[in-house]
Amino acid sequence: MKHLYIFFALLLLLHFSSCDSTKSFYEISSPDNNIILNFFITQQGEPGYTINFKDKLVIDTSYFSFDFKDQKSFRNNLQIINSSNSSFDETWETVWGEQRFIRNQHNELKIELEETVEVKRKFSVVFKVFNDGVGFRFEFPEQDNIKDVIIRDENTQFNLTGDHTCWWIPGDWDIYEHLYNTTKFSEIDALSKKDHPNLAQTYIPENAVNTPVTMKTDDGIYISILEANLTDYSDMTLKVDKENLLFQSELVGNDSGIKVKIKTPFVTPWRLILIGDEAKDLVESRTILNLNEPNVLEDISWIKPTKYMGIWWEMHLGKSSWDMASGNHGATTENAKRFIDFASENGIGALLIEGWNTGWEHWIGFEDREGVFDFVTPYEDYDLEEVVRYAKEKGVDIIMHHETSSAVRTYEQQMDTAYSLCRSLGIHAIKTGYVGKIIPKGEYHHGQYMVNHYRKVMEKAAEYKIMVDVHEPIKPTGLRRTYPNLMSGEGLRGQEFNAWSVDMNPPKHLTIVPFTRMLAGPIDFTPGIFDIKFDKYKEENQVNTTLVHQLALYVVIYSPLQMAADLPENYDEHPAFQFIRDVGVDWDTSMVLNAEVEEYITIARKERDKDSWFIGCITDENERTLNILLSFLDDGKKYKALIYSDDEDSHWDKNPTAYKIYEQVVDKTTSLELKLAAGGGAAISLIPI
Ligand code: NOJ
Ligand code: CA
Repeated sequence: MKHLYIFFALLLLLHFSSCDSTKSFYEISSPDNNIILNFFITQQGEPGYTINFKDKLVIDTSYFSFDFKDQKSFRNNLQIINSSNSSFDETWETVWGEQRFIRNQHNELKIELEETVEVKRKFSVVFKVFNDGVGFRFEFPEQDNIKDVIIRDENTQFNLTGDHTCWWIPGDWDIYEHLYNTTKFSEIDALSKKDHPNLAQTYIPENAVNTPVTMKTDDGIYISILEANLTDYSDMTLKVDKENLLFQSELVGNDSGIKVKIKTPFVTPWRLILIGDEAKDLVESRTILNLNEPNVLEDISWIKPTKYMGIWWEMHLGKSSWDMASGNHGATTENAKRFIDFASENGIGALLIEGWNTGWEHWIGFEDREGVFDFVTPYEDYDLEEVVRYAKEKGVDIIMHHETSSAVRTYEQQMDTAYSLCRSLGIHAIKTGYVGKIIPKGEYHHGQYMVNHYRKVMEKAAEYKIMVDVHEPIKPTGLRRTYPNLMSGEGLRGQEFNAWSVDMNPPKHLTIVPFTRMLAGPIDFTPGIFDIKFDKYKEENQVNTTLVHQLALYVVIYSPLQMAADLPENYDEHPAFQFIRDVGVDWDTSMVLNAEVEEYITIARKERDKDSWFIGCITDENERTLNILLSFLDDGKKYKALIYSDDEDSHWDKNPTAYKIYEQVVDKTTSLELKLAAGGGAAISLIPI
């Protein structure tokens, strides 16, 4: 019925439309013609769009409008004053990433709108239609009648064509660290996720989800809605309108009711809808990067993807602590040297040391967190200079840790001093953290105030030649293209929850993440836990996967900073550690060999500047057998395949650490049968002979 209505409405629109500036219906298609975007404006001057994929409607009649403070909304009484089309096709080279060369091919439609009534304000909508999706954003040009703008709401609709299966996390304004939920659209209940006992801060004001939110239609089409280039704006959550079966944008605000405060001219982030007929299409999309600006950093010699270890998991397990007063301080000179030795002997490029600076006695659960950390004063049992000197001698880089405890003003005051210290020590990487409610009060992690803060950190760090890995971040939106020092980030339920949360990550967790959070960008998940049950430290918690599943994550979960998260003593004498030694961190090519959301995924990646390939494959709580054909390998080349496999009786709970390693000579005609245990996986390195 809905469709029929649209059909007649469009006919009417076509009927009323005359040529050029009075035309009220425009169509553009993707370069391969599979996706068709229709822009329309109703007789009341209300703009909107629909999207078709392979002759099927996938986004039904959707409108967009803006509500402002102190001025009328932009909703109707609009007319088209100009429209333009263009096409684009370029291939560009990444500084680092899932693949070296990315093709940016799309068709563009720009519609300029103006009010038909006083005061004749203007804005435009720009659509870019790619073979794997549609991006659009709003542009507010410089004009006499809007200068200062306070956006109360952006109402961009994504009108669904059915009650799709959705993979979602709640539209929390303060954290993304929720488990994914799988429900029909009509059953989304974000409010039921309020007040999780293990979240240091959480605020879910209404029934909304965060993006990327991924969906599957009844006829097997995969759709994900996300954002690209989130700059000087706030995070878009999507409100669930069950009656009309649509998502509507709901920007994160602050306690003063302001969503975005900005001056014209400005542009909004891109609203991106990825569409494919296989789950893997979403994962292979690079469109989010194509909707960001090219690299602005000239000297990039200091930007290096690397594997790293950390004085980190031991704190999460309770073996040691961040603070010194408790008498069990982890970040001592001696412990740091132990880690440096281990990293150096095993070709791990860097070491993160948490709890090295004073203040940890007073960081979490305190209201007054301003001025607690200064990021330059080490605890007395930690000789910073000596650790850095020793690391340098052993060829290991140090990653500085800056836990701000969300005292954002303090961090902004300290940034120059802190980064100068890094520069003087030759340190080129920091991990930042934002645990706790934001100070100043009334702001949220995902609002415009924080979006601008995270950007300031990224830009200032670049000035000091520092790479950043952000925990409790704003979600990635492809800014890594413009600032390739923005390496990785959290922004999801990481490994740490397995150490202390009441609800650990279930075996299927990471079979959902590649199709949801990972569409946004690199993830510092911190894989590689070998002591799966860690009963010595915590009996009630464990990792809910097999050991081999942990290995596979080095390929499946993309990050240019990839942690070997477990304690050195848990890697010692473990033949499987060879995979972590060998695996690459920077890729020439990445391809998804097979995938189904919340079931399994197999990814193959070719190392940049090398001929080796690595394959990672994981399954959910179900055991399964997958066959993969190695047809992507080079013609005529033979490879030594080292296959790390679950054992016959491996099981994520009953027998998680059983595995076997075997060797096989393979070439592009070889087909491999991978037997995955429940919660298991497979990891393969392929080295040319
Ligand atoms: C939360 C981060 O996700 C974790 O990695 C870190 O260890 C703690 N905060 C302390 O900063
Ligand atoms: Ca965290």
